[in-house]
Amino acid sequence: MIIRNVTLSNLSSHPLNDEIYMGNMDIDDLMENIKQIGLLEPLVVIKSGKPKSYLILSGHRRFLCLQKLNYEKTDVKLIEVEEEDIPLFIISYNSTRLKKATTLLREIDILEKYYYTSKENKNDVVTNAELIKGDKRKVISKRIGIAEGQISKLKTIRSIRPELLEKIDLDEISISQAHILCKRETQEDQSITPNFIRGKKNTSKGRFNIFCKSSVDMSEIPSEQINAIICSPVFYRHRIYSKKSNEHGNEKNVEDYISNVCDVMDECFRVLSKSGVMFVHLGNTYDKNGSLMNIPHKIVIEMMKRKPFLLINEICVRKVNPIPNSVKTRLSTSHEVVFFITKSRKYNFNHFRIKSKTENNSTPYHRGNQSGYSPYLSDGKKNLQDYWDSEMLDIISTPVANQIKSKKQFNILHPCPFPEDLRRSLLALVTPNLTPTNRIKNMSDFHLLDCYSGLSGVLFDGYTLGMSVWGYDTNSNYTKVVIKEFERLSKV
Ligand SMILES: C[S@@+](CC[C@H](N)C(=O)[O-])C[C@H]1O[C@@H](n2cnc3c(N)ncnc32)[C@H](O)[C@@H]1O
Repeated sequence: MIIRNVTLSNLSSHPLNDEIYMGNMDIDDLMENIKQIGLLEPLVVIKSGKPKSYLILSGHRRFLCLQKLNYEKTDVKLIEVEEEDIPLFIISYNSTRLKKATTLLREIDILEKYYYTSKENKNDVVTNAELIKGDKRKVISKRIGIAEGQISKLKTIRSIRPELLEKIDLDEISISQAHILCKRETQEDQSITPNFIRGKKNTSKGRFNIFCKSSVDMSEIPSEQINAIICSPVFYRHRIYSKKSNEHGNEKNVEDYISNVCDVMDECFRVLSKSGVMFVHLGNTYDKNGSLMNIPHKIVIEMMKRKPFLLINEICVRKVNPIPNSVKTRLSTSHEVVFFITKSRKYNFNHFRIKSKTENNSTPYHRGNQSGYSPYLSDGKKNLQDYWDSEMLDIISTPVANQIKSKKQFNILHPCPFPEDLRRSLLALVTPNLTPTNRIKNMSDFHLLDCYSGLSGVLFDGYTLGMSVWGYDTNSNYTKVVIKEFERLSKV
């Protein structure tokens, strides 16, 4: 029934409408429209309980426009709705509206309550067929106008990273992107759960030696056995990898962290051969005042104070995909450092030169030419530099990468494994038999260590090349999957 000329002061929003759609009331365009052609559709209302006053079920934005345009009266369409069905009416009237993620979730909650708890035979004619079949989620998706999959994604995001909903509302991230982040986080969390993976956590068999323990004590390795160490110690206060007390990285103060990492580096000094080479990949952290703590350099200075290490190079690696930085007051961090460290001035190292971009050459870098050292390395005129970007990483890693035949398939996620091209580039610098001067008879006599091994990417590379490999990690889930994979590879 149409009621003419109802005074605006006798109309008010239904409280449920405000609850669902608050913050989702952009009216500029609509107001312009009403100004030009007037109100085409009357507001839909129910009786409020007080004489001559009504609650709006549909037309809240129009009502707001009328108020702003100083209308005094308007026509309304009075309908009768059972109290219980009001949520369905309000949401149905809004099904075509562009909605924020938080608004959609409020609609989902209300409709779930409506369909899952109230009376059997709903007044929802359109979707009754599906309701009878019991497919309530499909009904809800039709009612609010989004795909079923989006409903479960939104609910997952709310339960795992609710702060991402605001980013979706601000169009900074899509629902699917946020959902991927949440799934990743769940998988990472699983890797922290003790005994998430079944299996052996220690093994010393053939060419692979993996131990679930802190690398502060690597007594399984005889002194000076190791030819190369490639490692990425935990960064300070970046994340938790297990709930074990011997894990490094979450010490209360940075001095304890540096001291713990340097205890491992002392053990590295003991196990590294005189001609051995060590690459230590380190990251920095900001303190609570927003100042960089200079951690990589503090560690290397402390290492050299404790043991007579030689620091040969500081390699600056450009991150190919730096995490987008939301901080607006400083530059995004887009590089990391790798320290190249030895015990003496005579060490095993592949000195090779690469072809500069301007050199006229059609042979791919990794094939080399007749005057090259090996089928793998090029023989250009340019020395390798200590700044590596993606092109350089590709050139250096190719000799190793090309020989990798197996692909790891783990059912576990490590939050920050060694980037593949970086670890393979570092390995290419020490892999024997790639250059005439760095030769070895039996590749298994070359021992490679990663003392913070995680998912052991570099150890798999070395193993596939025939090296003997050693890995230590405090998280048993990682050592278990790594051992399984080595066992599989050893049978291939
Ligand atoms: C940055 S991640 C290294 C990732 C590894 N390079 C890879 O490619 O997967 C650091 C690793 O150190 C391990 N870790 C932490 N404290 C340790 C300790 N005291 N001894 C050995 N490993 C430790 C963590 O569990 C984590 O897997």
